Amino acid sequence: MATVVAHELYRFFHKGEDETFALRGVSLCLPPGEFVALVGPSGSGKSTLLSCLTGLDEPDGGHVTVNGNRLTRRPEAVRARIRATNFGILLQSGNLFPHLNVAQNIHFQMTLAGKADDARVEQLVELVGLRQRAHAFTTQLSGGETARAALAVALAVNPPILVADEPTAEVDADTEARLIDHFETRCRAGLTTLLATHSAALAQRANRIVRLHDGRLDYE
Ligand SMILES: Nc1ncnc2c1ncn2[C@@H]1O[C@H](COP(=O)(O)OP(=O)(O)O)[C@@H](O)[C@H]1O
Ligand SMILES: [Mg+2]
Repeated sequence: MATVVAHELYRFFHKGEDETFALRGVSLCLPPGEFVALVGPSGSGKSTLLSCLTGLDEPDGGHVTVNGNRLTRRPEAVRARIRATNFGILLQSGNLFPHLNVAQNIHFQMTLAGKADDARVEQLVELVGLRQRAHAFTTQLSGGETARAALAVALAVNPPILVADEPTAEVDADTEARLIDHFETRCRAGLTTLLATHSAALAQRANRIVRLHDGRLDYE
């Protein structure tokens, strides 16, 4: 069980004289067991917010706490430990080791947490609809298959908080429905799920929709 709180997050990017205000004072609380959909147009700051919430990126202002422990502006080793014990993370790319196949990527994630479980690897591969592709390497996967494999890795150890960037992009309707059921099961078990998504089907089933626009939040 874990609570994540974002306090007034700001994130700016500079390129030459151009300045992008990716996050402009975003505050958010994710209590245990909540299933939240983060929506907003492309470029509204969704990926930046997920990176800051998980400590993969540092906000320029504000801070994030996980169960009351500050994650922001701590040494990387501290951030890594907080991340490993609390989060399962699916980014938009770069989630898989290219020299391992799908099943091995999931298994490796479990091994890192000391929770290797072959039966669960099979269940996860089935959940994301990749039974036929379990032994494929990343270079042999389509974009949608890569995203589904990465989701299975993010779910490998049933993390207290799942943070996933577009987990059902390029996923067929049956697989999406199965994944939504899984997210609801997590919710009932007191596990938190935060998904950036363009899927109306997914957002409708969330407990709460959080909408980003130009780096600011509107609540529904
Ligand atoms: N590393 C970066 N360097 C420069 N600009 C960035 C970087 N990451 C994001 N941005 C900019 O910040 C804004 C928000 O991006 P992003 O968080 O990726 O939005 P979303 O995920 O909602 O599409 C965009 O204008 C994007 O171009
Ligand atoms: Mg994005």
